[in-house]
Amino acid sequence: MEKGGNVTMITRIASTINKMVNSEITINEIELLIEQPKHAEQGDLALPCFRFARTMKLAPNQIAAQIASGFTCEGVIKVEAVGGYVNFFLDILTIAENVITEIITQGNHYGDSDAGQGRAITIDLSSPNIAKPFSMGHLRSTVIGNAIANMLEKNGYTPIRINHLGDWGTQFGKLITAYKRWGEENKVRQDPIRELHQLYVYFHQQAEIDESLEKEGRQWFKCLEDGDTEAVALWKWFREVSLEAFSRVYNLMGISFDSYHGEAFYNDKMRAVVEMLKNADLLEESEGAKVVRLDDEGLPPCLIMKSDGATLYATRDLAAAFYRQDHYAFAVSLYVVGNEQTLHFKQLIAVLNKLGVPWANDLVHIPFGMILKDGKKMSTRKGKVVLLEEVLEQSIQMAHNAIMEKNPSLHNRKQVAKQVGVGAVLFHDLKVFRQNDIEFSLEDMLRFEGETGPYVQYTHARACSILRKAAWNQEYPTSFTTFGKDERAVVKQLAAFPEEVEKAVKEWDPSKVAKYVIDLSQDFNHYYAHTSILQGVKEEEKAQRLALVHAVSIVIKESLRLLGMEAPEEM
Ligand code: ARG
Repeated sequence: MEKGGNVTMITRIASTINKMVNSEITINEIELLIEQPKHAEQGDLALPCFRFARTMKLAPNQIAAQIASGFTCEGVIKVEAVGGYVNFFLDILTIAENVITEIITQGNHYGDSDAGQGRAITIDLSSPNIAKPFSMGHLRSTVIGNAIANMLEKNGYTPIRINHLGDWGTQFGKLITAYKRWGEENKVRQDPIRELHQLYVYFHQQAEIDESLEKEGRQWFKCLEDGDTEAVALWKWFREVSLEAFSRVYNLMGISFDSYHGEAFYNDKMRAVVEMLKNADLLEESEGAKVVRLDDEGLPPCLIMKSDGATLYATRDLAAAFYRQDHYAFAVSLYVVGNEQTLHFKQLIAVLNKLGVPWANDLVHIPFGMILKDGKKMSTRKGKVVLLEEVLEQSIQMAHNAIMEKNPSLHNRKQVAKQVGVGAVLFHDLKVFRQNDIEFSLEDMLRFEGETGPYVQYTHARACSILRKAAWNQEYPTSFTTFGKDERAVVKQLAAFPEEVEKAVKEWDPSKVAKYVIDLSQDFNHYYAHTSILQGVKEEEKAQRLALVHAVSIVIKESLRLLGMEAPEEM
């Protein structure tokens, strides 16, 4: 598929250079070297020449000078050598023609690529623990994972979203104990997560006084593992009501999954894994437990089986990895899980390597930082939890208030409030590089100025409103003779979109798209503040500017879609 305007220009420039320098470096390699400089005085595109130094046996600044002196290429109006760089200045009319025409004809497919060639990539995301509140960490996993999946799809991969629910483990023995002793069915039905979580917390408080509780919990878990009817029925019920509560959050966020196979799904698939480890002579006894030693890798041993035969988190992840490879034949298998599980994933990959599976290193852990409140981790323990559903509801309410203030006659304001309120929470998360911690603040998220979701959505709505007012018939011009300095920044941003998405995919980094759409919004708002589009302009000027506005609305909407957000046309 044809790429955005600058991408076309990059190819053109790269092939010209390839002919000029006559070295082994391919057009494709040169394309990858070409950058889009941050500052306008460094040109629209720039080529660092350091890579050529070895094969050409010249200093980078000599190579740059050599390229700059003889360079001609359609669409390039000026070439400069500065140090080891060649800076290219492009003809804005040519770029505009390429880019705007492409955006308007391709619509939301602008920037699509078939780089992935349909290859499957599994994405383990969200993965909350049932009977527990959906934490801020799970929120991050959900929004980052979903955005990565959307970006992958745009680049021609087949993403498979897997919600690896935490629905197994000794904690369910404790929960059953607590429920049997103190629980009430109707209370659980009314507010399952809160009630079950409270029972669990209460269990731990009581267990400090009453030692028999721990034992009872272990017995119930054993019953569960042995398929005892009562235990299984309770577990199923806890799982079901938890999923209903989680689904409300997913629906609010507009997120769906291809699979809900959680940890329990692998119960009957772990024997095979344990057998495999045994046959490969990798299982060792350690204090009664079975472990795989990872001394050579400089890692602590990976726990496979406890002394009582119970399997563990890592064992279930091993079984899941095999299942996913068998079932989806993934090219890459992503795990969007917090920083604190880095060791776990290192161990997982190390064990698979020891087993000699050829795809072991196709597993990739995508870690992320924490959400902080007043500089401290937002906790889900001790009953002091922030329930995500409440956060989203509150955000929607605040968005609603803002709309009532700014645009009280908006007809679908309930729907818009939801789109803005939820979008604000998602954007606040995604605009930050995922490894960084984030400070949680609804006030900051919902500001209409600055780098926020509402700001970007509002920019989109503003573009739509210009088009509405113009009653534009969508017959756009194909040449942009009236464009000058003012349009330049916006057109350049539009041209950069396909490459930004591609980079974001390569680095598994949705914040690149978020930052991109902030820049585009800022450039557009700046343009709009200084340029009249509808009033007091000639017809041809108006038509060309409207085409630009239309292109901007398409690219903002598509960027937001990649981030999992909606773009209301009015707000
Ligand atoms: N349920 C786990 C937790 O909340 C996250 C699971 C991540 N996925 C995985 N395959 N281990 O910590």
